[in-house]
Amino acid sequence: KSIVVLLSGNGSNLQAIIDEISRQKINAKIVAVIANQKTAYGLIRAENAGIPAICIDHTSFASREDYDTQMASCINEFNPNLIVLAGFMRILTPAFVENYQGRILNIHPSLLPKYKGLQTHQRAIDAGDEEHGASVHFVTPELDGGPVVLQSKVPIFEQQDAQELADRVQQQERQMYPLVIKWFCEDRLKMIDNKAVLDNQIL
Ligand code: GRF
Repeated sequence: KSIVVLLSGNGSNLQAIIDEISRQKINAKIVAVIANQKTAYGLIRAENAGIPAICIDHTSFASREDYDTQMASCINEFNPNLIVLAGFMRILTPAFVENYQGRILNIHPSLLPKYKGLQTHQRAIDAGDEEHGASVHFVTPELDGGPVVLQSKVPIFEQQDAQELADRVQQQERQMYPLVIKWFCEDRLKMIDNKAVLDNQIL
């Protein structure tokens, strides 16, 4: 299977996926990495792995629709089976998402449906939650609202700050995202009627 990864920043999830592919744990090829920021370190990780690294700077587009149209035409040149959002910090238009229905995955740093959007770690601490975590889900037009495939939990310790918590959550992310991508690439994971289905079981 072929994968296009979209990101905006560090790319530690991208790196985990690259590493699992090179260890032959995932039978797939990342055919392009696209960022909306030219400073995204994920672009350097892609180059180091010999993957085409492309920046489509969102500041040079007048509207979200224009940006997503350009993004889609770039993605379509690579004709991927799967689009992986790995820290891509832009909201995608419904038209974009519907065009790739069932073929876009995202990782979100909370136990969805809790804490959609930003500042998830601080919000979990402020709420006095005892646990927090990350979720991998299919992307639908509803922001952070698509069907969840897999969640991983971490405890929140007293006096833990948001950065420490984020580090622990991201450690989990780097384990769980490659696993979900592996399932997708083995045709075991699908989105059917807005539900995530693994090995013919609704999740
Ligand atoms: C991760 O915490 C992910 O959950 C969120 O953005 C962060 C990306 O980290 N969507 P990285 O760029 O993969 O290191």
